[in-house]
Amino acid sequence: MSGEEVQISFPELIRKKRDGEQLSEEEVHFFVRAVKERTIQDCQIGAMLMAIWQRGMVPKETLALTREMMWSGELLHWPEEWRGVVVDKHSTGGVGDKVSLPLAPALAACGCKIPMISGRGLAHTGGTLDKLESVPGFNIHQAPEQIKRILDDIGCCIIGQSETLVPADKVLYAIRDATSTVDSIPLITGSVISKKGAESLSALVLDVKYGKSALYKDINSARKLAESLVTVGNKIGICTGAVLSRMDNPIGQCIGNSVEVMEAIECLKGRGPSDLKELVMVLGTVLAINGMPLAEVLNVLGAGRTQAGAQINHSIGAELLVSVGRHVNKGDPWIRIHYETPALTQNQKVFLQGALVIGSSSEVDDSPLVSEFILPK
Ligand code: URA
Repeated sequence: MSGEEVQISFPELIRKKRDGEQLSEEEVHFFVRAVKERTIQDCQIGAMLMAIWQRGMVPKETLALTREMMWSGELLHWPEEWRGVVVDKHSTGGVGDKVSLPLAPALAACGCKIPMISGRGLAHTGGTLDKLESVPGFNIHQAPEQIKRILDDIGCCIIGQSETLVPADKVLYAIRDATSTVDSIPLITGSVISKKGAESLSALVLDVKYGKSALYKDINSARKLAESLVTVGNKIGICTGAVLSRMDNPIGQCIGNSVEVMEAIECLKGRGPSDLKELVMVLGTVLAINGMPLAEVLNVLGAGRTQAGAQINHSIGAELLVSVGRHVNKGDPWIRIHYETPALTQNQKVFLQGALVIGSSSEVDDSPLVSEFILPK
């Protein structure tokens, strides 16, 4: 932004959005700067987020929000010889989505540089940063020079937003999680693309999830989100494409911070998991494993946050012992829960049992997970 600073009152700005009016670039700048500098109260941020959630934003406002969030901190810069190889993928998240953990080193092994700025848990979806922090001593905060050294040495790093890297997303992200304002196309677009813009990427693939365990349950809403992400990503100069992928069932067999890291390491190195607390089930073929009840019980057990900045217990998690399409007999264990409270309550067990959908083998949905590619128009 340049020129004269506009002076606007926060209540007036919130009222404008609440009443469905468009915010100008100056107003978006004013809001995001106040978020970054913490000169606006959290209750006012929450009210503005709810107004955006209710009223949405036109593409021009979403682009302004994304740019201002990206510029709220430093932009990373890379040596000329890395041109074209600095890449990333970002998922809109779901239950058990730990793909970033093995994917970043796999891309690095192919010669790419991946400076992945990730996030914590949002709504019911797990956060890559929370997963990594379950590794004792793992530091998700790195200075730009250190990020460059890590990329030089090993090709990839996964870090968090900070006071210097997309600070506006760090604040908005935590408040969205605590105010039920996560599933908003402009807010997700601003959050995801501001981080990727700060990474100064050449290319970006977005994995936009839809289905029972995702932020958006139906493919049409996910397609609108993917189109917004791809449009804004390309407008800020990153060659961006998206896939729409079905997320009815959790990815892999583990759900929870520590257990997902173990599963990712298993994926990279072939080691096996441990521990057990088992539930029991009925006869038939597994048609689906609904991620939402699993995520809700794990959150109550301590794996998730209900307030911004709250501590979580990284060791809480679940391992799926069956997969869709597998035949199970009465008495076969299908899930192993890692928890620390004395016992799961009967209600929690019943709720968890409801996650497993059993039927006949002819009803199994074995269509591919990736449904569509969304490319710039
Ligand atoms: N990932 C993000 O970084 N932000 C969102 O809003 C959703 C997924």
